[in-house]
This record gives sequence, structure tokens and C-alpha cells, in this order.
Amino acid sequence: MTKKISNFAEYFQKYQESVNDPEGFWGEIAEDYQWHKKWDKVLEWSFTGPKAPDVNWFINGKLNITENIFERHLPERKDQIALVWEPNDPKEDVVNYTYGELYEKVCQFANALKGLGIKKGDRVAIYLPMVPELTIAMLACARIGAIHSIVFAGFSANSLSDRIIDAECNLVITSDGGYRGAKSISLKSIVDDALKSCPTVKHTVVLKRTGDDINFVEGRDIWWDDFIAGVDTKNEAEVMDAEDTLFVLYTSGSTGKPKGVLHTTAGYMIFAEYTFKNVFQYNDGDIYWCTADIGWVTGHTYIVYGPLLAGATSVMFEGVPTWPDAGRFWEIVNKHKVNQFYTAPTAIRALIVHGNEFVTKHDLSSLKVLGTVGEPINEEAWRWYHDVVGKGNCPIVDTWWQTETGGILITPLAGITPTKPSFATLPLPGVQPLLVDNEGNELKGNSVEGNLCIKFPWPGMIRTTYGDHDRCYQTYFSTYKGLYFTGDGAKRDEEGYYRIMGRVDDVINVSGHRLGTAEIEDAINQHPKVNESAVIGYPHEIKGQGIYAYVTCEALSADEADSIENDIRATVNKIIGPIAKPDKIQIVSGLPKTRSGKIMRRILRKIGEGDATNLGDISTLLDPGVVDEIVTGAKVEVKR
Ligand code: PRX
Repeated sequence: MTKKISNFAEYFQKYQESVNDPEGFWGEIAEDYQWHKKWDKVLEWSFTGPKAPDVNWFINGKLNITENIFERHLPERKDQIALVWEPNDPKEDVVNYTYGELYEKVCQFANALKGLGIKKGDRVAIYLPMVPELTIAMLACARIGAIHSIVFAGFSANSLSDRIIDAECNLVITSDGGYRGAKSISLKSIVDDALKSCPTVKHTVVLKRTGDDINFVEGRDIWWDDFIAGVDTKNEAEVMDAEDTLFVLYTSGSTGKPKGVLHTTAGYMIFAEYTFKNVFQYNDGDIYWCTADIGWVTGHTYIVYGPLLAGATSVMFEGVPTWPDAGRFWEIVNKHKVNQFYTAPTAIRALIVHGNEFVTKHDLSSLKVLGTVGEPINEEAWRWYHDVVGKGNCPIVDTWWQTETGGILITPLAGITPTKPSFATLPLPGVQPLLVDNEGNELKGNSVEGNLCIKFPWPGMIRTTYGDHDRCYQTYFSTYKGLYFTGDGAKRDEEGYYRIMGRVDDVINVSGHRLGTAEIEDAINQHPKVNESAVIGYPHEIKGQGIYAYVTCEALSADEADSIENDIRATVNKIIGPIAKPDKIQIVSGLPKTRSGKIMRRILRKIGEGDATNLGDISTLLDPGVVDEIVTGAKVEVKR
């Protein structure tokens, strides 16, 4: 087994090795895995050629990722707990799966999928709450080489059907419903709605979770329990090529509908485990908990694949941080004696407002490492996390990465890299970041700020966007030729530490959830009374960014005017889901546009931030008068 990095000098040494000889570096790590056939060459790549991006790791290697979770570990870990499931309601029983038990469940479900005719390369949509069966279903897909496309169970029927249609899925795995705090959500009815427009779906497998009545469609729907009844628990894994697709996960960008980010088998596998072990400094026997939802990439890589590939014990939580009360996280940490805890800044900020007592009344002495992900963490939240949760004893790893990167790229190594509040610090070995100005010139040296790019492939990186390779090139590789562009702005300080400043494109990050402003505008525009809209992100105390929508409407009756804001929210809820509902809606008579018709978002952003003092030159606008009207009616205190 490759050793974890154990001190700062070793980090620099490994980093240098990974840059001087990337193939030697990753090739040695890849030796730790079970292969049906080893690779002929570690890497071939181009970010610029006719097929760009064209990135191939471990060429002609053959393997199955689930054999590297199970068969590789079973001799030592058959009776070790792989997955601890903590239900939404603390009164409900915890469910544990050992590696041996999880293996049998995965194999059985894999056989059942095969029995239904699902085969290598087929796409399977999974729309489940945070129950262990979600992990079982995804690993069963990987076992037989089917491509899982997991859709966060907070998305609407419309978002679900868009994703199913784009990937041409032929099976949906779902449940009758799910719990989130005091609420229960009927997922099956959302699926029924979505499937009205998805002709490729032949079947749905339905897990019983809430026991609510469902509309059971004979011939299409199959209950989970019936699906696996009497099915063999032994399964021979499908042999996959290193570059065969493992999964697709949809994510928002600055234009168009969400795209299916595609990850392949061997590179993702190796990167997931390597980053997990090194960043969290996981030791055998530790209990690790990532609070994310598996519907997002964080859950894919750091609840399921990374920890299980590393032979870890991973906690999976169904509920929310504030129910039954704001001490729920800390109660769970104490109950399971969690050693590494990984969450989002938005959750931390939401908990701060409830006061320290919810933390201090629980014994958190098991904690060794704290992590954050998904958005910049402000200094106040960082300090509270460090002082109140970690009692000053736990290093915080502020991990920067993206759906497209597959795993963490810039981060401290827990207890090894000296940390600084709100700095993601240094790149992991194998990761070569750089900052460029808007013309693409590299900003060399320290104390610089620019657009964050990566100049060399890493094993976990995106290979394509499902069904549209050119979109992948255009989105990530065309802005700065020869570089992967992240869409983020960053600073490199005097010590060479990276601080992520946030998105520089039309993407906003609401409670760690990524949304395209264009996508929200499209949803708002579907309201029959709306003419046009412009959406921007504005600073929000808990969510990081809130959604501010400026909207022009047709003439409204008095009743319509009263209800228009809520009606617009309902429209967005229906088209995308609750996470995309605007926090602020301002009905305006016009939007600030250039004479060529382009909306001047820069101006709207300034107003949304409450800073109308310096709007720059507005005399070139088609109708400068609308700016005054917007400033006067702004839903924030606007300084002028
Ligand atoms: O803007 C960055 C922000 O989240 C974006 C990626 O979102 P998504 O693909 O949904 O993945 C989130 C979980 C990996 C990035 O472009 N982001 C992520 N982590 C951080 C962050 N911003 C600042 N600091 C972070 N640690």
C-alpha cells in the first residue's frame, strides 16, 4: 500500500515527484489495486488537439471499481463496518453494514439489475433519499458496468426528466418517499410526473421508505423487495476498461441546461482514494462522516467511493442539521464517535445562529479533523468551527474542488499543512494550478489574483460532457488555450497559498449548491406574466449567496401584483426545485441594457450587493432611467 504523506517536507517532496514524473507517481499508486490486466501506459492526453479534451489514464488497464472496494478488502475487513446509516429521526434505529454484508447486498442488486436486462453501458437514473439502498444501487450499477446518473432528490420532476432524457436512461431507481427533518416528500409521484416525458424508461424500482401510498404502475414499477427476492448474492463483476464510464452527474454552468459531467473508472478510483486518505489523514479504525447528500459530487466521492475504496467506516446521514434541534450533528458525532467530520460552510453558518450550547452539551472529544467544502468559508464561520466545534484541537481542511474535478484539488493536509482561515492553501500532489489574467497570460510569482486554471491532467478529471463532447471543450478548455478553466477566481498570497474568491462566470453558489443564473432566468420566464428577467447572486449571511431576480412583467391586475412574487417562486420550484427559488424578486419596468440589447449584470450585481455608489458609466445604456428606478426600489439597503 502506498503510504500516506505524513509531514510537510514529505508533501513538498511528493508534490515535486508528481510534477517531474506524473506517470511514475500515479503508476506507483495504481499498483495498489486489483486489476484484471495492468495498463500499457499511464497517461496520454491533449487539451488542444482535434479530440480535446482527450485524456486517457491507465491505457488498456482492466478492472472493476467494486472489486477494489470489496474483493480487495474482504480478507481483512469482512466484519468491519463499512457503512453506518443514521436515519432522519433519532428515534429510528441505526443500520450498520459490514463490508461482507454490503458486498452481498451490492452483488444481489447487481444480479437483479442484470435480470431486468440492464447491461454494461446502460444509463440508470437514481432518485433516492439518503438511505443505504442509494449506496447499494450505485455500487450495483458499477458492478455490472451500468452508468449511474444520480439526481439529488430535491430536484423537481422537470429537472429529473431533463436529466433522464439527456442520458437516455432506461431504468429509474426511487422510493415511495423520503424524510427531511419534519417533512416527508413523496418522491414516487415526482418520478411519475417526470416519466410522462421519458419514453426510454422501461422500469422503475421502488424502495419502500415512508410507507405512503403510491400510484403503482403495473408492468413498469417493481418494489425493491420483490426485485431482490430470492436473487443470488454472488456476482462476478463486469470487467471494465480503465476509461469506461463509471458515472454521469449533472451540474449547472453559465449557459444552457445542466450538463452531464462524465467520469471514468480507473482514474477516478485512484484519485478518490488517494485524496480521501491524504486530505483527512484517515487511519484504520477511524469513523469518518461527510454530511453531504450523495446526489452531489461530494457524496459520490467522499461518502461512497473514496472512503470505501480506502477500507474506511463511512457514516451516511438521512436528515438535516437543525432537526429535531440544532444539536443533531453533534449528537451524531458523539453517538458514533466520529473522528473526521466534513461539511459545508452554509451548514456551519446556519448552526452558529442557534448558539454554542447546542454544540457544547455534546462530547465531541472523538473529533480529530474538520473539513469544509462547496463554497468559500468566511473567517467568522472558520473561527467558530475551529474554536467551538474543534475546541482548537482539530485542523480544518478547506477543500476546494468541483464536480468536474472528481476529487479535491487544493486543500491543506490535515495536521500537516499549516492552515489560514478561508485559504484552501496548496495543491495536492498531481495538481498543477495556475492563475491567468483575462487575456490568458500566466500571473507568475506570489501576491497575485486571477482566473484559476489547471495545466496538466489529474486522474479524477472530467473526460467529457455526456452526449456533447464539444460542449466540454467549449466550456472548460476553450477560454484559455491549453488549460482547464475552473470558472473560479483565486488569489495566491505572499506564501503561495490559494484563496478561492468565488465564481467569475454566471454561476452562483447557493448554500453550496451550484446554479446557473441563465437556468433560473429560463425558469422565471416560463411564468405566463413574465416578459424578461435577470438573476444575480448577492451576499447572503447563511447561504453564502442568495438569488436576486429582477423581473419585467406584462400589465398585472391588483390581485396578480399581490401574488406575482410567490407565483414566480412557485414556477421556479416546479421547473428546477426549491433550491433555486429566488430570495428576492424585484418587479421593474425595464432592465439596464446596452444599445445592442445586452443586460448589464455588472450594474445589477452592484445594486444587489447594496452598493450603488459606483455604478460606472451608465450613459451608454438604452434607457439609463431604469437604473434609478431599480436603485430606488431595491430590496436591499442601497448606499449611494
Ligand atoms: O466555486 C467553487 C465552489 O464550488 C464550485 C464547485 O461546485 P460543485 O461542482 O457543485 O462542487 C461542490 C463540491 C465539490 C467551485 O467552482 N467551491 C467548492 N469548494 C470550495 C469552493 N469555493 C471556495 N472554497 C472551497 N473550498
